Amino acid sequence: RKKVGVLISGRGSNLSALIEAARDPNYPADIVGVLSNKAAAPGLATAAHEGIATASLAQSKFPSREMFEDTMTQVLESWEVDIVCLAGFMRVLGEDFVSHWQGRLINIHPSLLPAYRGLDTHARALADGATEHGCTVHFVTLGLDEGPAILQARVPVLAGDTPETLSARVLVEEHRLYPQALAKLARGEVTI
Ligand code: GAR
Repeated sequence: RKKVGVLISGRGSNLSALIEAARDPNYPADIVGVLSNKAAAPGLATAAHEGIATASLAQSKFPSREMFEDTMTQVLESWEVDIVCLAGFMRVLGEDFVSHWQGRLINIHPSLLPAYRGLDTHARALADGATEHGCTVHFVTLGLDEGPAILQARVPVLAGDTPETLSARVLVEEHRLYPQALAKLARGEVTI
């Protein structure tokens, strides 16, 4: 089984979906550590409750983004992780971190990439009158939300949807998709 570190900034519902999936003895990965850039992220408590190693690092405490990210890499390496999953990690990562983990670093994004990179994806899809929306798990490269897709899931946009109702519909799919995509990477079925 591959060892996985998960980077979060908040709620951690995708983290919970990954932890759930890894309970299956046939799942090819274990979540061995969770790192947050926010000490108050609810996902840290979820991980600690599961007996998973946790760490939180505030970028503001570091003199530069590079030093912050180098420390993240050191923490992840102390957990001997093979794969890093971004799960609601709301910071853009720099060149050193991304190239260090390239091919072993994946993210879940709440849109059908390449549509709606960045923030506020649900509101933007609604404002455009999109009829379809969804989520993508992709390899992380330097360009924001630009790396090659591993899996996508689609949902319909329904009459009367708000960003909240639409994001809830997408989130159900995120929780199904992320464990599947991580399993593909852990089994060596996808490469960058
Ligand atoms: C998820 O919807 C994820 O796709 C999104 O943040 C949410 C985190 O929820 N990620 C991004 O927007 C990345 N730019 P969670 O903490 O409950 O998993």
